[in-house]
Amino acid sequence: MCGIVGYVGHERALEVLLGGLKRLEYRGYDSAGVAVIDPAGDLHVAKKAGRLSALTDELRAHPIGDGATGIGHTRWATHGGPTDVNAHPHLGDEGRLAVIHNGIIENFAALKEELLAAGETFESETDTEVAAILLGREYRATGDLVEAFRRVVGRLEGAFTILATHQEQPGVVVGARRNSPLVIGLGDGENFLGSDVAAFVEHTRRAVAIGQDQIVTITPESVTVTDFAGESVEVDAFDVAWDASASEKGGWSSFMAKEISEEPEAVANTIRGRIEDGHVSVPELDALGDGVLAGIDRIIIVACGTAAYAGMVGRYAIEKWSRVPVEVDLSHEFRYREPVLTPTTLVISISQSGETMDTLMAVKYAREAGAVAVSVCNTQGATIPRESDAAVYTHAGPEVAVASTKAFVAQITALYLFGLHLARVRGTMSEAQLTAATDELTAIPAKLAQTLKASEVIEPLAKWMADSRAVLFLGRHVGYPIALEGALKLKELAYIHAEGFAAGELKHGPIALIEAGQPVFVVVPSPRGSAEMHKKVVSNIQEIRARGARVIAIAEQGDAAVLPFADEVVAIPLAAPLFEPLLAVIPLQIFAMELAAAKGLDVDQPRNLAKSVTVE
Ligand code: M6R
Repeated sequence: MCGIVGYVGHERALEVLLGGLKRLEYRGYDSAGVAVIDPAGDLHVAKKAGRLSALTDELRAHPIGDGATGIGHTRWATHGGPTDVNAHPHLGDEGRLAVIHNGIIENFAALKEELLAAGETFESETDTEVAAILLGREYRATGDLVEAFRRVVGRLEGAFTILATHQEQPGVVVGARRNSPLVIGLGDGENFLGSDVAAFVEHTRRAVAIGQDQIVTITPESVTVTDFAGESVEVDAFDVAWDASASEKGGWSSFMAKEISEEPEAVANTIRGRIEDGHVSVPELDALGDGVLAGIDRIIIVACGTAAYAGMVGRYAIEKWSRVPVEVDLSHEFRYREPVLTPTTLVISISQSGETMDTLMAVKYAREAGAVAVSVCNTQGATIPRESDAAVYTHAGPEVAVASTKAFVAQITALYLFGLHLARVRGTMSEAQLTAATDELTAIPAKLAQTLKASEVIEPLAKWMADSRAVLFLGRHVGYPIALEGALKLKELAYIHAEGFAAGELKHGPIALIEAGQPVFVVVPSPRGSAEMHKKVVSNIQEIRARGARVIAIAEQGDAAVLPFADEVVAIPLAAPLFEPLLAVIPLQIFAMELAAAKGLDVDQPRNLAKSVTVE
């Protein structure tokens, strides 16, 4: 959702801001704007509904002054529609200061009433303008931007990242955060603020993540961090593990195509350093302290969307290997059902961005209730790992396309590493079993590369199916979450009604949907894992085929039993059954991408969606 950039230094701020906003586009937005202070000390603002290109067209048609201090914003509308007026920045102090904001100011109505009563007027429908007007008043009262800002953020309720700059104090940008991300980029004679490191990674890879309820002030030569009471706070810098080219398309038709091609590498990087000579160890889990994992008696996985389906896959493996009961809950349902949590409950959150508000709130709830929290996350410096007792990072590299692909396989990999680590700690697997499982996992990157090759048959199929009104997906055991993920991908990218079902559920209702020509993808389990499950799924295929379904089977190489009944078969390499989901998902990701492309849709930024959902 909203993207934020702040800059102070020696470059043209406008250029830095527009470059940063471009890199933050992937977060999803529907309007964009910038504010810069020119050398004469005048604040200039430009903002426009629509894509970033609408803003750059506007700047070309009506150039504004430029300087070396500025803030920029991409907005995903919450309070008020995506219009020019509602776009950020919003102004206060009679146009002398500018404010941008991500999140929701929950007490904005009460604050607005107070300001209206005091004679203030508003142009937009946003909650953000309330903060800007309030800041203007505090600035006039104190004459000090930092002090005024501190007073304002202390009055705001809800979740926010907020940045401000004032023309009377050029060379200063202030920012604050609560439950919403803000990262500092440390430069040489220049400093940056961003929603995430992508905002400034082309200028610096040295970064600092701001903690909860903290305020940062940047000038070209200094960075000061305090809490909301004004007490100074020590911060730790880190090096961003990837460079700007990692978040560029690099010749691919879309970020999604590039990211799918990177899946073998994403899994290999997630395994690296955690399996040595067949021995599995996830050192980050040491942060939990001695004996904690051995004493866990229940695991609850919390996540949303694709990450939740990764959790569903992980459940089968973690439970089987460690013999600890595992549940999976959608983050936004978790805390409202008042789950029973104890100090021996482990809550594992999964989040690519590490900023999904629903998941963040689930983690906070779990910790407040005394549970232990481990985060599986792909983004350095993100909020969720910082709010957890330990973080297991996936090393998938930046994922820019809104549809999650390489992060999904990296999340499953991290959960499998966790499951094997737990099994070793608890002694629930023999050395031979652990070695067999680690061998399987380390073989996955090469098998993923083969699967990508085998999935070439998908493109013509997707083109052929571009006019489908609905597509169904069936799977059993670990194939079930893959069916759900296949359906989600198709919905979000191709805007086609798609549903995933557990194959065993078919005769309990969904089979009524089958009519002549209905496309159904079936994820077929390996007969080597469970001959019984395999036989049942093959029977399901016959049942739907008999009713006119067009069946596309994802089955392991050499599975002759499906051939007579499937219209198409996508063959995936042989893998132990628990590892098949890592391979079976690939053709489904490619299918959704190719079908969306065949319909002429934006594969990387589907309508209405944001990459990271930072409001509840
Ligand atoms: O950043 P997160 O992993 O927490 O995001 C969770 C979901 O919003 C995300 O997986 C979403 O479902 C994707 N758009 C799916 O492709």
